[in-house]
Amino acid sequence: MGYPYSHDLEVGTILSRHFGDESARRLNVWQEYGGYAALAKAVGMDATQITGIVKDSGLRGRGGAGFPTGLKWSFMPQEPTGPHYLCCNADESEPGAFKDREILRWVPHLLIEGCLIAARAIRAEHVYIYVRGEYFPYTRILNDAVVEAYEAGFIGPDILGSGWDCELTVHIGAGAYIAGEETGLMSSLVGGRAEPRVKPPFPAQSGVFGRPTTVNNVETLAAVPMILSEGSAWYRQWGTERSPGTKLWCCSGHLERPGTYELPLGIPLRDIIYDVCGGIRNGKKLKAVIPGGSSTALLTASELDCASTYEGMQEAGSSLGTASPIVMDEDTNIVRAIRRTAEFYAHESCGQCVQCREGTAWVAKILHRIEMGDGRLADIDTLYDLCEQLTGRTICVLADSVVFPLRSSLDKFRADYEALIGGRA
Ligand SMILES: Cc1cc2nc3c(=O)[nH]c(=O)nc-3n(C[C@H](O)[C@H](O)[C@H](O)COP(=O)(O)O)c2cc1C
Ligand code: SF4
Repeated sequence: MGYPYSHDLEVGTILSRHFGDESARRLNVWQEYGGYAALAKAVGMDATQITGIVKDSGLRGRGGAGFPTGLKWSFMPQEPTGPHYLCCNADESEPGAFKDREILRWVPHLLIEGCLIAARAIRAEHVYIYVRGEYFPYTRILNDAVVEAYEAGFIGPDILGSGWDCELTVHIGAGAYIAGEETGLMSSLVGGRAEPRVKPPFPAQSGVFGRPTTVNNVETLAAVPMILSEGSAWYRQWGTERSPGTKLWCCSGHLERPGTYELPLGIPLRDIIYDVCGGIRNGKKLKAVIPGGSSTALLTASELDCASTYEGMQEAGSSLGTASPIVMDEDTNIVRAIRRTAEFYAHESCGQCVQCREGTAWVAKILHRIEMGDGRLADIDTLYDLCEQLTGRTICVLADSVVFPLRSSLDKFRADYEALIGGRA
């Protein structure tokens, strides 16, 4: 599959090489493409060796926070005193994010293989893939692949004659954004409400059924087989020292060519928008972009020359998040866009923390009032005050998620707010 971008990934495409090829879902075709060779290698290695390769590769978690994957795996107890679990987080519900579903629907065996290798590295006896409830068609594709992998002896007892046993279960999620937060996910998986809990204890200490657990995103785990086959130096040929490898970018909004693109980390955000995605549709100008999914700070047209890395986005005052730029053209009503985002977070708040339950709802209400022409200048101060109340005071970071787009829109587009308020004190 080719890319409308000059950085040619044909040789190195890791995740998306077989996107669009329905036959790649079948095990016999997948094996012709080299599938499960990395698992065969992994069963001949011990947990520490596998973790070492992934650590050296510098792979960082693709679920949003970018935590180093090998390091996370090394937090699991080295001498198991009972069962360990791996949870693959396929709950993908962040507005703007639609990358994990591409892996589920086109290359399910790549994900299964990545899960099994990770399970071996953390000494897990059972893998749970927790799939967003609305992803029903992709769950069916994944289930068919799991059945095939069981029949071929890649999952189950004595995998590939190695004496190692590992089971895998696909679990259909509860249909809430908060079920994607790792502690909420684990609670939902075992039959509880998808309510996050305070950490510590971290999942590596106490997770599924109170046992040591690792939670990893779909895209993170899907990168693992190629890293194991080709080695960490091979993976590091793309990206930067602190952000190695390639990344799936879900580009949406007012673009000529929106879509999911696998790109080496480090390309300027401007090139992703104007080169890969063909620029702003209908020849319009860019007003703002929320670069990493709806929970990241927005950037303006003059701030696009940042590198698309974890560190580059941070230097630009935003974050890579799930690498899901939502692009807005010059005609966009920013207050409306942020109000819509705030409504999402208010709706998805699990309600345990007062600041989040009340604060997100008030942000949405005040933004609605301003949008409808009933706002006051004092509302802007109240919104800034709410940003303070919502930051760093809650069990999970859903509350903080509303602050990043809100505060950056107030800082960078205050004139838009004031124009709608029209001077009312
Ligand atoms: C409100 C909220 C929602 C989240 N939703 C997802 C999600 O849908 N998918 C995901 O992989 N991570 C999600 N995360 C991050 C997970 O808690 C966790 O950090 C991640 O799955 C770890 O995987 P990684 O290390 O491979 O990135 C969410 C976090 C928060 C706070
Ligand atoms: S911050 Fe919000 S979503 Fe997270 S636990 Fe508290 S109330 Fe629930």
